[in-house]
Amino acid sequence: DRVERFALPLAVPKPMPRSGPNAYRIAARQLRQQMLPPPFGPTTLWGYGAEGHDDSFASPGGTIEATRGTPVEITWINGLTTPERRFRPHLLPVDPTLHWANPGGRRDTRPTFTATPGPYRGPVPLVTHVHGMEAVEDWSDGYPEAWVLPDAVDLPDGFAPVGTWYDFFWAKSGRGDWGPGRVTFRYPNSQRPGMLWYHDHTLGLTRLNVYAGLAGLYLIRSDDPADQPGVAGSGAAAVLPGGAFEIPLAIMDRSFDADGSLFYPGSRRLFDGHAGPFVPRSEVPPIWVPEFFGNVMVVNGRAWPRCEVEPRRYRLRVLNACNSRVLILRFADPKVEVWQVGTEGGFLRAPVKLRDVLLAPAERADLVVDFSRLAPGSRVTLRNLGPDAPYKGEPDEDPSDRRGTGQVMQFRVVRATAPDPTTPPARLVLPAIAPLAEPVRERALALVERMTPSRRGEVPHETSLAGFDPALGRTHGVTLRHWADPVTETPAPGDVETWAFHNLTGDAHPMHVHDVLFQVVDRRALDDETGRPEGPARPPRPEEDGWKDTVIARPGEVTRVRMRFAKPGQFVWHCHMVEHEDNEMMRPFRVGPEQA
Ligand code: C2O
Ligand code: CU
Repeated sequence: DRVERFALPLAVPKPMPRSGPNAYRIAARQLRQQMLPPPFGPTTLWGYGAEGHDDSFASPGGTIEATRGTPVEITWINGLTTPERRFRPHLLPVDPTLHWANPGGRRDTRPTFTATPGPYRGPVPLVTHVHGMEAVEDWSDGYPEAWVLPDAVDLPDGFAPVGTWYDFFWAKSGRGDWGPGRVTFRYPNSQRPGMLWYHDHTLGLTRLNVYAGLAGLYLIRSDDPADQPGVAGSGAAAVLPGGAFEIPLAIMDRSFDADGSLFYPGSRRLFDGHAGPFVPRSEVPPIWVPEFFGNVMVVNGRAWPRCEVEPRRYRLRVLNACNSRVLILRFADPKVEVWQVGTEGGFLRAPVKLRDVLLAPAERADLVVDFSRLAPGSRVTLRNLGPDAPYKGEPDEDPSDRRGTGQVMQFRVVRATAPDPTTPPARLVLPAIAPLAEPVRERALALVERMTPSRRGEVPHETSLAGFDPALGRTHGVTLRHWADPVTETPAPGDVETWAFHNLTGDAHPMHVHDVLFQVVDRRALDDETGRPEGPARPPRPEEDGWKDTVIARPGEVTRVRMRFAKPGQFVWHCHMVEHEDNEMMRPFRVGPEQA
């Protein structure tokens, strides 16, 4: 392998420029960015940036910094056009046999598995979702079928410029700045402070659009003293590392061709042959791959970066932005002390000292990392012990390739410029977490993977969610439901519900529910024979004991979460291995009466 490690300095995403006091106009565009160190040139990818600020375009896009209680409005623009306003085709192979946002297909139909074979070369639909945003109206959530095509001059005849749900949401929105190639969404920012992220969510294209670079961070901060941690036994406000000492890390895995362009497997054959960086592009018609594992680790848009740190505490806000890879992060030197203080929905109940940070795709960890026991001049690698394969939640899994994906980035300790004023994590008193009311119902939901009949001489397996009656056991009574089937999860506004994810597959799945934050209740093993929960219930790990939006459901277990549904409307829940999400492991849910 020829990619030099720790050659590029870590890039920290800049704040996204605003278009008004609490407003943004954010476009997705094609750009070139130095993802790999020299001798590679820049890689062509997609990123977000502010319209009118050409230098703000990057992947990850600029960070949106919001304040609790102050809503913001974002106009999302599909800018995948050339300077002559011709549409740009996808950078990556589109699988036309999935149920996807096919702008040239018939509307309101199930996918035809007989779609024209061969690469799709048309314009690319986009719709952005802010992941982890609570209590957003459905028309602002980025529903997978509310996409828009770019406002290009050469859209093919008969192509729908918008997805099936666009018109309905546009009407509901009050018809603000919606138009060709753009939508305007409003975000309440009413929840506790935390790190969210935004990314593309287009039906059947999410894995490719996110892989191409369409993701960015969204931080909610708070001025309210009630949201600030205190110091144990003192009543004083705690000091957390901030400014240059607070660093967001969006970790992802990628593969590249020999010329430095992004590589995503276009066929099962290539995938099974360990598509790596330097595998020539395939002429085989594109087809869905069950999970993607790249062989280059990328942080904030750069391969294996390095970062200078002072010997003191830092706040590292980590996002697993990989398509399918579960990360198990560990500092190579045990003198680096790691405390987790928050998760997706803000601070935990209490700080947790950790050696390993387990993060499935879309999960976040708010860490206080102490480098103070390292001498200036020392170097410490952040390692990854997660597997180069779907995670099974077992202690003896094959760790990732030690020299490749087993390394994430390197920290290099320099001299301190000033004493560290921050509160030792052990002394932090974190804001209380309000309990949820008793649930009004529990829903049993099954995660299932099935091989489907050959579509094109290949045998893909299809991931599906299912409504499930646990009393009927594992092998009976599971009704497979696909994306296009009628909505079955229909809480009323204000309902507290428990959702029990019965994982009947061989791999762990990170389950994500839109528009709410949830609390993890417990996990229990499922009996092999009957599929019924057996054995003792295990409480959430301490580092999961807070508000979350994504939870690991291990194979052979039922994982229960509890949440309160507030906003009426239609949203989605799904597995956040985006290859699964794009192939039916996603379902709509509706709060309140049917609207469309
Ligand atoms: Cu991060 Cu429904 O997604
Ligand atoms: Cu999955």
